[in-house]
Amino acid sequence: MDQDKQKREAALAALEFIAPGTRLGVGTGSTVNFLIDALPDIADKIDVVVASSIATESRLRMAGFTVSELSEVGDLDLYIDGADEVNKQLHLIKGGGGALTREKILAGAARKFVCIVDESKRVGVLGSFPLPVEIIPMAESLVSRQFVKARGQPILRKDFVTDNGNLILDVHGLQITNPLEMEQRFNQVPGVVTVGIFAQRPADALLIAREGGVDQLGS
Ligand code: 5RP
Repeated sequence: MDQDKQKREAALAALEFIAPGTRLGVGTGSTVNFLIDALPDIADKIDVVVASSIATESRLRMAGFTVSELSEVGDLDLYIDGADEVNKQLHLIKGGGGALTREKILAGAARKFVCIVDESKRVGVLGSFPLPVEIIPMAESLVSRQFVKARGQPILRKDFVTDNGNLILDVHGLQITNPLEMEQRFNQVPGVVTVGIFAQRPADALLIAREGGVDQLGS
């Protein structure tokens, strides 16, 4: 089964989590795009929808939805998003698409976070995928030095500005054996907006599509 087919299957499996009256947060990326394509068929179940990026907001509008601001909506019932890496503790690396900060905000505002991935995203130890870190532009060298001390190789993402007007460092070569500790430690470096480790607020349910079906971890 090809990767896109698996992404689509994971996205369709997440539709089961959308109950009537859901205040829904929608993530960013190619896996979530399959979800957005399927949402019009169950639009009557969705009370309000909030987007994690400008790209997702436009796609939702094109699919016929009115997109609300998180501050108008308050808490969300459900947040659905993809990931770049997942482990069996439901810790994630996110931010390949650069939307990690808004994604972390929506995950934090949601009662339930369902993560949808194809099986290529499953790892034992997080860190083979370069860790995205959103930074305030003037802090680039200060933050980079902190990651070098932790034996990472930070590389500034070329020609990329986040929806918040910031930059992304992609940190290569990390072995993230303690995701909770690393998330806390690096989030405290001045100039870091957020790191792309989702461990303090992990997924509640992980839907992993593989050849022959979709596995669910968590609930
Ligand atoms: C965007 C993200 C995405 O969820 C992550 O990059 C996965 O993307 P895709 O579904 O295209 O593989 O964190 O910031």
